[in-house]
Amino acid sequence: MRAALLHMAADAGASLGVIIGGAVILAIGGFEWIAVGRLLHDCLGGGGELSVVGRLSATTEGQSASGHRSSGRSGRIWLDRRQRSLRRFEVGIYRDRVLPRFQDKVMARKPNREVRARMCDSLAGEVVEIGFGTGLNVPYYPAGVTRVVAVEPSALCMRIAAPRIAKSTVPVDMGGLDGERLDLPSDHFDAALSTWTMCTIPDLDRALAEIRRVLKPGGVLHFVEHGHAPDASVAKWQERIEPLNKRLAGGCHLTRQIPTFVERAGFELDDLNTYYFEGEPKPFGYTFEGRAIRR
Ligand SMILES: C[S@@+](CC[C@H](N)C(=O)[O-])C[C@H]1O[C@@H](n2cnc3c(N)ncnc32)[C@H](O)[C@@H]1O
Repeated sequence: MRAALLHMAADAGASLGVIIGGAVILAIGGFEWIAVGRLLHDCLGGGGELSVVGRLSATTEGQSASGHRSSGRSGRIWLDRRQRSLRRFEVGIYRDRVLPRFQDKVMARKPNREVRARMCDSLAGEVVEIGFGTGLNVPYYPAGVTRVVAVEPSALCMRIAAPRIAKSTVPVDMGGLDGERLDLPSDHFDAALSTWTMCTIPDLDRALAEIRRVLKPGGVLHFVEHGHAPDASVAKWQERIEPLNKRLAGGCHLTRQIPTFVERAGFELDDLNTYYFEGEPKPFGYTFEGRAIRR
């Protein structure tokens, strides 16, 4: 059965197939997707066997995609828990090479663009943007912004952002890799911007303390974030799927009560709108859009 499925996938032009628990779940044309298969396997409990069949059409009996001999009949590379270095490699590929491209597409949708325009509209002076991503806010920086300092850990995101930065009339400088540790002066910035980033930063309390530190007293944090929904049935789903979502979406939490974090860090909420984001399944789309003043 498996062999038949894999041959079908190969005939369809796939260069990679992944089997989990007897079913082909991925049969596609990119090496990076090994990482996705591995992550899914782990998230599904890691109990079943996982086999990765590389470059289906080129695979010969007992010869794996990478040219190594393997014990599988059709060139399977059998992975087990002891292969930690391979796993780190896979996760690294997924995080560094797949996710930023995916993020650039998903975050560029029309409803997001409308929110970006609102979030950037009243920015002025020197701005620090936390989780700059692929620079999707750049076209919306208004003329009153004199400089943006971008904080972003992903090198690929910054590469994808380069043409947007090149076109910008507002100067954009790289300001570090981690919102939890800002190597930036205290009491300096007029505003901070965070769009769909607070879900991902591992220690959000620490990052907000840093944002507060670098803002001038009275400086404004503009934020749009998704998080914990008030409806019990939605919140229950958020709790259920959060572990899987964190694995697949770069550490993205679904259950963060963003305004609570913001107030706890020493900000006063000035304006807050909450809603389910258009076109987004409810567990992923409960949105907090607002501004908060540094106390
Ligand atoms: C969902 S994306 C949003 C990107 C961008 N703000 C946008 O609106 O398109 C979350 C971003 O947060 C970044 N990120 C993750 N951990 C971070 C950290 N500790 N400090 C700053 N940014 C971080 C990720 O690399 C990613 O680009």
